[in-house]
Amino acid sequence: MSIVAVIGTQWGDEGKGKVVDRYGQQAHWVVRYQGGNNAGHTIVVGNEKKILHLIPSGAMHPQAGVALGQGVVISPEALIQEIESLSGVYTLESRLKVDLRAHVVTPMQIAADIQREQRGSGVGSTRNGIGPCHEDRAGKRGVRCGDFLFNPEQARRQLEKQIEHWSYAGSGEQVFMELAGFIRKLEKIFANVTDLVLDAYQQGKNILLEGAQGHLLDPDFGTYPHVTSSNPGIAGIAAGLGIDPRLVSHVTGVVKAVMTRVGDGAFPSQLVQERWQKEEVMKFIYEKEGITAEEFEAHDSKTQNVIRKKWAAQFSLPEDYAYVMQHLSDAEKYVQGQTVDPLPERLATILGSGERKQTRLNHLLGMYFMAAAGEFGATTGRPRRTGWLDLVALKDAVEKNGINGLAITKLDCLGDLPEVKVVVGYSLEDQTVSKFPEFRLQGAIPVYECLSGWDSRAVTRASIFVELPGGAQSYVRRIEDFVHCPVHIIGTGPGRNQAIELHHPFSF
Ligand code: GDP
Ligand code: IMO
Ligand code: MG
Repeated sequence: MSIVAVIGTQWGDEGKGKVVDRYGQQAHWVVRYQGGNNAGHTIVVGNEKKILHLIPSGAMHPQAGVALGQGVVISPEALIQEIESLSGVYTLESRLKVDLRAHVVTPMQIAADIQREQRGSGVGSTRNGIGPCHEDRAGKRGVRCGDFLFNPEQARRQLEKQIEHWSYAGSGEQVFMELAGFIRKLEKIFANVTDLVLDAYQQGKNILLEGAQGHLLDPDFGTYPHVTSSNPGIAGIAAGLGIDPRLVSHVTGVVKAVMTRVGDGAFPSQLVQERWQKEEVMKFIYEKEGITAEEFEAHDSKTQNVIRKKWAAQFSLPEDYAYVMQHLSDAEKYVQGQTVDPLPERLATILGSGERKQTRLNHLLGMYFMAAAGEFGATTGRPRRTGWLDLVALKDAVEKNGINGLAITKLDCLGDLPEVKVVVGYSLEDQTVSKFPEFRLQGAIPVYECLSGWDSRAVTRASIFVELPGGAQSYVRRIEDFVHCPVHIIGTGPGRNQAIELHHPFSF
């Protein structure tokens, strides 16, 4: 019996929830060790879709306990809401445990996060107070779940320090009473999760650790300062769970074939033009909701998320974009200055001329990926920026996290193109490099390798590797070859059973 970790290798949203839900069938415990309700992990079983933010993605398996280690920051209100949203179908009751030492996300921290984003001095956060909560933890102003139960005076003092630090307008006593009320409601679920995991391990149980976010959002190894506030990878396990990381026998790195990023920060292989993407998506949402941009902006962050999430799934490619996708080979030739005879006039009108042609075509392709792969944030409903898979960054994630096996998701969403690209290096002003250029990412131009495309329906139909179309097989093999790590599972659709499994980590 073993401890297996599932972690993100990119900027989050790789499909960790799906992989954890699958592996969770064999687990006795599924445990989160970092992040908070900034995470949004999607699980699709049959026609049912669940998005989990704090509760581990093992919740759908009645045999599995689910736990949050002390490295997870807890919004007690969000946790209660999530428990309630699952109740009836997936009763958690005695199955859910939360570490007493986990820090509480307070109203001061949420307000500070929102204000920072509204002022434009944030990093495009999820506005859930995660950053300020970690700042307070490091600044010794933090308050832990157990403080409310065992040391309420300390909790009060810490909250006062936060009120002063963040210049919060509310009363300390009111904040204390509100949070203490939530904590009392949750009282039965608190435990020492380190002991729980170690006991289970010693009894020979299977433990599945679920990472949130991803390697490129790591505050130490990611695209700083545009990162989250806890370590999503192997380093976070020791810090956020209190166990010897050498006990982890297998690390699965989840990698999405269509790479995405939500929030600010560099993304060298990005295809979409962010401003155009936002305009196009928001125009669609305003029309559907029947409101103006000003009316939307007047709503609070939570309501904005609800509105975005309500309509995002319905977004479909504008007609012009669909037309270009149907004439992609001609479009590429046109952009590269090759002769297309006869050149469809509509193509030239849509793509324009000069240098802008390439930018337009890239944007269009990125929007196609966004629509095909439903790339909207599971937490905020923001459109995710899309781009080509970066193998240089993936190799970095594999090396720094001791990843033994990869889970590739959304292979089905990359299909129907004459060719697909992967990043194999970076061209900097003075040199070409094959390592992730941490400090020069902003100006770095990706070096691409082109691979043959494939039919996406053939991917969806495949249930074993050899049934995948040739192009998809070569793509998978190229990834393995480049990053020196085997692929253990391939996603062929969002559903729990839509995957090709080559190795199962719990059998190691
Ligand atoms: P997480 O944060 O890493 O758990 O990922 P998210 O849930 O935020 O986003 C991943 C999205 O991809 C979700 O909508 C999943 O349902 C979906 N998904 C996961 N694997 C696959 C796959 O192989 N194919 C397709 N089409 N969708 C997938
Ligand atoms: P899952 O677990 C994608 C991003 C935010 C922002 C940055 C900092 O679903 O993969 P934060 O609220 O953490 O202070 O925001 O990190 N971010 C995520 N992006 N998926 C996530 O989680 C994320 N959690 C945080 O968009 O850029
Ligand atoms: Mg997510």
